Amino acid sequence: MSKILDYISPDRLKGILRNYSEAFKKAVYLLDTDTEIILKFPEDAPKGKFELKELKLKDTRVGYVAVPRGRSAQANLDFIVKDLSEMVEMGYEIENLAEEVAKNYEELSLLWRLSSSLGTGLDADRICNVLAQEVMSLCPSTNVSIMLVVDIPGSTAASSMPAGELKGPARKFFLPKASLGRDASRATTMILTTEGGLMGHVFENKEALTVCDVTVDDRFEGLPFPLTRVLIVPMIVEDEVIGAIVATDKLDGQEFYSPEIKLITSIASECGVSIKKALLYDEIRSMLFSTAEAFSLAIDAKDSYTYGHSKRVSHLSVEVARQLGVPSETRNWIRLAALLHDIGKIGVPDEILHKAGKLDPDAMERMKEHPKIGAKMVEHVQRFEEIASWIRHHHEHYDGSGYPMGLKGEEIPLPSRIIALADIYDALRSDRPYRKTLPKDEATGILKKSLGAHLDPVVFEAFEKIIFD
Ligand SMILES: [Fe+2]
Repeated sequence: MSKILDYISPDRLKGILRNYSEAFKKAVYLLDTDTEIILKFPEDAPKGKFELKELKLKDTRVGYVAVPRGRSAQANLDFIVKDLSEMVEMGYEIENLAEEVAKNYEELSLLWRLSSSLGTGLDADRICNVLAQEVMSLCPSTNVSIMLVVDIPGSTAASSMPAGELKGPARKFFLPKASLGRDASRATTMILTTEGGLMGHVFENKEALTVCDVTVDDRFEGLPFPLTRVLIVPMIVEDEVIGAIVATDKLDGQEFYSPEIKLITSIASECGVSIKKALLYDEIRSMLFSTAEAFSLAIDAKDSYTYGHSKRVSHLSVEVARQLGVPSETRNWIRLAALLHDIGKIGVPDEILHKAGKLDPDAMERMKEHPKIGAKMVEHVQRFEEIASWIRHHHEHYDGSGYPMGLKGEEIPLPSRIIALADIYDALRSDRPYRKTLPKDEATGILKKSLGAHLDPVVFEAFEKIIFD
C-alpha cells in the first residue's frame, strides 16, 4: 500500500509540518492510512481531539492530516491537504522519473554492452550468440533460442520436408540460429512455421507474446522439450519480422514480467538490424566470391597449364594464414586476393603469356606489369584498397629483389608473402610446358632453398606444418 513516506522523506516532512504549525499557530499531525500518528509538530503536542482530512495520491489514500478541533480547523486542513498533495504528487513524479531513468540506464548500458561485444565485424552467428547470452543473463531460463525467418522452397509442413518433395512456392519458417540453456541441444532441431501456432501469432501480429501455461493454449505448436511458460519476442526490421527470441520457463519459476519483456524487445530490435545487415553482407560476400572465382577461372583459362591455379593458391593461402593465426575476417579477404592475384595478366598479351622458354627483356618487363595492372583493376572497388595492395606485392621478394617496388621483409604485406609462397608451390606442383609436376617433397625442397631470399621463413614454417600434417 502506498504511504506518504514513500514520496517525501521524514526529515523534509518534519520541516513542512513545522511551517504549517507556525503559520496556523496550532499543532499539526500526520497520520498513516490506519490513522496512527507518524509525525507531529510540536513534537510534544498532546494527542487530543482533532479533525482529520484524507491525503490522496491519484485516488489512493496515502494518509491523513490532522489539526486540533476548533475554529478554522477545516480551512487549515483544506489548505494543508491541498499543499501537501501537490508535494506528494511531485515526490511521486520524481520517484517515477528516477525509476524511468534507472530503467533507461539499464537499457542503454545493455545496448552499449551489446554494441561493443558485437564489434565492427558483421557475423549473423556471432550476433545471435551474443543476443542469446544477453537474454539468458537477463532472464535465466531453461532455454533461450534465437530463431531466424528462412524461406524454404516448396515445403509443405514443419515436420515433413523430404528433399525429394520440394514442390510449390517457398514458405517461411523460423529456424534456430543460436540456443542456450538446459534444452539447447533439443532446441536446435526446432523448425517452426510462421503460418500458425504461437510463433505464427507473433509473426502475424508483430508483438511480443507470453503464455503462462502452454498446455492449455490451443495455439501451442509443441516444442521438442517440455515447458510450461514461454516468451516470444519478434525481431522486427523495417516492419518485417526477420526472427524471434524464444525463452522458456524462467529458472526462478516466475512468469516473464513486462519490464523484462520491454527490455528484451528493445535489444531484439537493436540486434535485428545488425542481423539483417550481417545476412545481407553474407549474401553480397558470397556473390563477390562467386564473381571472383569466375574471374580467376577466366584468368587461368588464358593459359591451359594454369587451370584451377588461382583457386588452389587461394585455398593454400587461407590455410597458411589460419596456421599463422590470421583472424577469419582477414582470411576471407586473403582468399579473395589470392583468387584475383593474377587478374592483371588480362592486360598481358597472349603471345607473352604463352611463350615457351625464356622471355626477352622487353617481354619480361610487360609480364612484370601484371601485379600493378591487377592492383589497379581492384582498387577501384570500394574498401578493396588493401586487397589491391596485397595483389600489387605478390611478386616482391623477402630480400627486396622482387617487383614492382622492391619491398623487403616485413615491408611486404603478410598476405602478399603468403600468396607468393602458395603461388610458387602450386606452380611447382603443376605440369608446365617445360617439365612435369614435381612431387611434394621436391617442391617443398625448392621452396626451402629460397628462404630468406625469395620467401619469408615464418610463412614457410606455417606452410610446412600444413603440408606435412
Ligand atoms: Fe603473379
